[in-house]
Amino acid sequence: MKIAVITGASSGMGREFVTQIDRAYGDILSEIWVLARRKERLEELQKEIKTPLRMFSVDLTKDSEYEEYTKALEKLKPSVGILVNSSGFGKIGTFQEVSKGSNLAMIELNCHSLTKVTYDTLPFMKKGARIINLASSAAFLPQPRFAVYAATKSYVLSFSRALKYELTSRKISVTAVCPGPVKTEFFDIAEENNQIAFYKKIVMADARKVVEKAMADAKIGKSKSVYGLPMQAFEILSKIVPHEAILKIMSQWK
Ligand SMILES: NC(=O)c1ccc[n+]([C@@H]2O[C@H](COP(=O)([O-])OP(=O)(O)OC[C@H]3O[C@@H](n4cnc5c(N)ncnc54)[C@H](OP(=O)(O)O)[C@@H]3O)[C@@H](O)[C@H]2O)c1
Repeated sequence: MKIAVITGASSGMGREFVTQIDRAYGDILSEIWVLARRKERLEELQKEIKTPLRMFSVDLTKDSEYEEYTKALEKLKPSVGILVNSSGFGKIGTFQEVSKGSNLAMIELNCHSLTKVTYDTLPFMKKGARIINLASSAAFLPQPRFAVYAATKSYVLSFSRALKYELTSRKISVTAVCPGPVKTEFFDIAEENNQIAFYKKIVMADARKVVEKAMADAKIGKSKSVYGLPMQAFEILSKIVPHEAILKIMSQWK
C-alpha cells in the first residue's frame, strides 16, 4: 500500500499539496492520508480528487487524538512515498501583545508536532521517498512582531537541512519550503489582533504556484524551495547584510 501523508490538508498550501499530489501521483497511490482538525473540510476535499482519502480529523498537539494516526501506521504498515508537514500557524504582534498561550501553541504545533509526525512516519518511508516541510522565508532571519513564529520556522529550516544529510544514505530527500507571504487562511489567524506589514502585502504569492515549485524542487531533491524573485532576493540579502541593519529597517516599517 503506497500512500502520501499531508498534515494541514484542510486549507491553504496543505490542501493544494493534496490536489497536486493527486494529479501527479494518483495512479500509483492507494490512498492519501490527510490530517487536520476540520473534518468537514477534509470531506469536501474528497469530492474534488480521485485518490481515496483516509481522514484523520485530529489536533496534532493532542496526543490522545494524534495516536489515531500512529495506530493506523502500525496496523496497515503502508509505504509512505511523500510526507508533507504543512500544519502550522503564526500570530502577528510583539512577543507581549501575543498571548502566552498563542506563543507556546506556535512552538507546540510548528516545531513539536512537525518533529513528532516526521519521527513516527520515517520508519514507513523507503528509498526514493520525499519529506516536504513548510518552513517560511521568516526562517532566514529574526522578525520583530513575528518573533516566536519566525523562530519556529528557523527550527523547521535547520532541522530539515540536517535531516536531509542524515537521510542521504537511505535516499530519502528532505525539502524545506520557504515562501514569503502566501494568500491563504493563514492571515485570518495571523492578523487577529495586528495587521501584516504593508510591504508583505505587495509580495503576496499564490498557493498553487508556491506548491508547484515545491513539488518540482522536492522531485529533484533540493534542500530548499524558495518561490519568487522577491523572496530569493530576500534570502540573498539575509546572507550578506548584517541582520542588525535589516532588523532596524524592518522594525520601522509597519
Ligand atoms: N500563508 C503564508 O503566508 C505562509 C508563508 C510561509 C509559510 N507558511 C506556512 O505554511 C504552512 C501552511 O500554511 P497555510 O498558509 O496553508 O495556512 P492555512 O491555510 O491556515 O493552513 C494551516 C493548516 O494547519 C492546520 N492546523 C492548524 N492547527 C492545527 C492543529 N492543532 N492540528 C492539526 N492541524 C492544524 C489547519 O487545519 P485545521 O484548522 O482544520 O486544523 C490548516 O489545514 C504553515 O506551516 C505556515 O506556517 C505560510
